[in-house]
Amino acid sequence: MSITLTFLGHAGFLLEDGPAAVAIDPFLTGNPVATAKPEDIKCKHIALTHGHEDHFGDTEAIARANGSVVYAAYEIINYLGELGIDGDKLQPANPGGKIDTDFGWVAFTQAFHSSSYKGRYMGPPCGLVVNLGGITVYHCGDTGLFSDMKLIGEIYKPDIACIPVGDRFTMGPELGKKAAEFINPKVAIPIHYKTFPIIAQDISAFSPTGIEVKIMEPGERWSFG
Ligand code: NI
Ligand code: MN
Repeated sequence: MSITLTFLGHAGFLLEDGPAAVAIDPFLTGNPVATAKPEDIKCKHIALTHGHEDHFGDTEAIARANGSVVYAAYEIINYLGELGIDGDKLQPANPGGKIDTDFGWVAFTQAFHSSSYKGRYMGPPCGLVVNLGGITVYHCGDTGLFSDMKLIGEIYKPDIACIPVGDRFTMGPELGKKAAEFINPKVAIPIHYKTFPIIAQDISAFSPTGIEVKIMEPGERWSFG
């Protein structure tokens, strides 16, 4: 049981288990720290936490190029349908729901944030729990701290948690540390910081007790398991 994570910069990841690949929040165009271009991303699946431009990103282009199945909030999926993405490739969901897939599953959790795209309401902001290659990854999305992160940790037992620590729009490093301790994964990866000056952070305070912190640079690949 293993997966390879590629950090796309900001909050984006490519999770791979051999030929099975899931992109999460693939924001590349306009991302000042991205090292990949949309056409570099090969994935049959895309999962989105919410509709903000820095998360929806290049979803449409990547989905069209790869024929990817997209997993996202109901309202985001409706928007993709209006853009002409084939309905067979659209998987709507809402917090609390779990979708079984050919690679494993994708579950949607709550997140405390907002979600819109070009002024359009995009449904609830979510966190994602993705099971691929027998490894479980909880991507918190953009969110403030909430104590049910402990419950999410107990239910899904994530191996890896991707936790936003850039402050202002999400938790900062101190609250992110608390989130990591609530979730209690084996490894915590800080995300959503230093992409833009407004979320630039010294994350030395992100030091959860008993949890390995893995700092990934954009473009870095890391195998787990
Ligand atoms: Ni956001
Ligand atoms: Mn964001």
